[in-house]
Amino acid sequence: CGIIARIGDGDGVAELLDALANLEYRGYDSAGIAVKGSGACRPTIAKREGEIANLRAILGDGVSGSIGIGHTRWSTHGAPSDANAHPHADCTGEVAVVHNGIIENYETLRTELESRGHAFESETDTEVVPHLVEEYREAGYGAEASFRHAIADLEGSYAIAMIVEGEDEIYATRSGSPLVLGIDAGRYYLASDVPAFLEFTDEVVYLEDGQVVVVREDGFEVSDVDGNALQPTVETVEWDAEDAGKGRYNHYMLKEINEQPEALRQTLNGRVDLENERVELEEFPEGAFEGVDEVHFVACGTSYHAAVYARQLFHDRGIPAQAFFASEYATINPPLGENTLTVAVTQSGETADTLSALRRAAGKGGRTLAVTNVVGSTAAREADDALFIRAGPEIGVAATKTFSSQVVSLAMLAERMAEDRGAEPRADAARYLQALSDLPDAIEQVLGDTSAERVASAYADSLSHFFIGRGTGHAVALEGALKFKEITYEHAEAFAAGELKHGPLALVTSETPVFAVLSGDYDEKTYGNMEEVKSRGAPVIALTDAPESVSRVTDDVITMPETHEDLKSLLANVQLQLLSYHAASLRGRAIDKPRNLAKSVTVE
Ligand code: G6P
Repeated sequence: CGIIARIGDGDGVAELLDALANLEYRGYDSAGIAVKGSGACRPTIAKREGEIANLRAILGDGVSGSIGIGHTRWSTHGAPSDANAHPHADCTGEVAVVHNGIIENYETLRTELESRGHAFESETDTEVVPHLVEEYREAGYGAEASFRHAIADLEGSYAIAMIVEGEDEIYATRSGSPLVLGIDAGRYYLASDVPAFLEFTDEVVYLEDGQVVVVREDGFEVSDVDGNALQPTVETVEWDAEDAGKGRYNHYMLKEINEQPEALRQTLNGRVDLENERVELEEFPEGAFEGVDEVHFVACGTSYHAAVYARQLFHDRGIPAQAFFASEYATINPPLGENTLTVAVTQSGETADTLSALRRAAGKGGRTLAVTNVVGSTAAREADDALFIRAGPEIGVAATKTFSSQVVSLAMLAERMAEDRGAEPRADAARYLQALSDLPDAIEQVLGDTSAERVASAYADSLSHFFIGRGTGHAVALEGALKFKEITYEHAEAFAAGELKHGPLALVTSETPVFAVLSGDYDEKTYGNMEEVKSRGAPVIALTDAPESVSRVTDDVITMPETHEDLKSLLANVQLQLLSYHAASLRGRAIDKPRNLAKSVTVE
């Protein structure tokens, strides 16, 4: 879910709706706003199931005001419906609240509130909040004190914003869910994420867990749980509004695929020292990883595939590494050694499963590192250290440019860690580091190639798409299949090339094209696997930089420019992103907002 609040000059409705549109990538199954004028006015609530267009359609002249809150929802408690959409109010209609996260003790609170006569209108966990505030106000507390008391009753994770009749203020707090304050001349904003209000201002304060912020038309106060005033740091974000907009592309996904050269230039900027043939990460002093004797990657979705890719790069540099699904790691007894480093790979830095895994490691006394795109994110704050991938905002639900930036960041981390652990320098250091530096140009060449689009259309009627590869090629096969499923809604599956013959081969027919990622990891063996599927009638499409060597067995080829073997699969991945994009586009899918998915999943 995404929340927004604004207070200041002029009417707020248009800005709230714009901000909600910017936050839609956090959830989009319902949306709502509550607005009021200053003085005695009561909040007016408008909310609707479905996209923001449905909300816009019900807004009339009666809905206006300079003080407001808004919400775009991704359901956790209660199905998408008008009643379950936020904001939620108390019995009197004086208090309106928006919330992102999960209130774990809501059933107990709700039962107690109902026994004291409160009537609930929704099935959400959120609705207990305005009712709790109502009780404290009835008991004689002011709005802010009531808010603080209500928050103290909650268990779980939340970012909450509230407006109240007769009060020219917004009250907000966070605990385990993100919340950022935006500061403009004469106006203030609060949101789950910076892109929500980036078109209005780039001056921000990242709020910390437990802090309460009270925002008025002429200023704001941040305080801790006990009400002690704090001096927050105002920062300027470097992304501009255009970065966060769709620009000339039809979809954010295509825009973000095309942004990869630029994103990677930022990722690499100042970090690869070609002269001294080493990697320099400004975040880490020399020797920072000296004592690390093993790495556990924890991640979900696309980030997990980046971790699977990186695992091989770490092994190649003599560093024992394992990749875990974060949701599994959070529920097992992680096999942490004394010097294990747990690395959370997470674009958003807010994925609940990944945060849980991180906390699991920290709880056992393990050292932690977050590799993330979002500087003020929870993972970045909670981990002992953070390495930023610097890919810029990613809005499309299907991750693209952040995968490339994650892999390259992790590749650089492997080099730094190997050096700190006293490993021999790579024999091919100069060639490898040069290839890393040239990667943005190589991706530019891939982006100029149209074969993925042609192939997407040639196999559009297939029953299923299969992806195979070895080593880093397997990681990219997994990612290719995930991308294909996510945005085309068609069945796709990845296999380690050598595993095909141990079962999945039974699925292979003339209606199941097989895409082989030739990563340079024992390609000759993969050729054999390609022969196996070809002889069962399946079309074979190779992703390779050497089309002539596979022409005998392939029906189609998607070519990539040559690069270092460790990076080949990254180029293949860009081609597979384009394949999925064009396949989804042919089918008219909601590419940026595929059904049932959300970009940032803040529940376990
Ligand atoms: C969600 C998204 C995926 C993403 C995963 C991990 O499931 O739909 O695209 O890969 O979360 O997100 P993170 O922000 O932790 O990388």
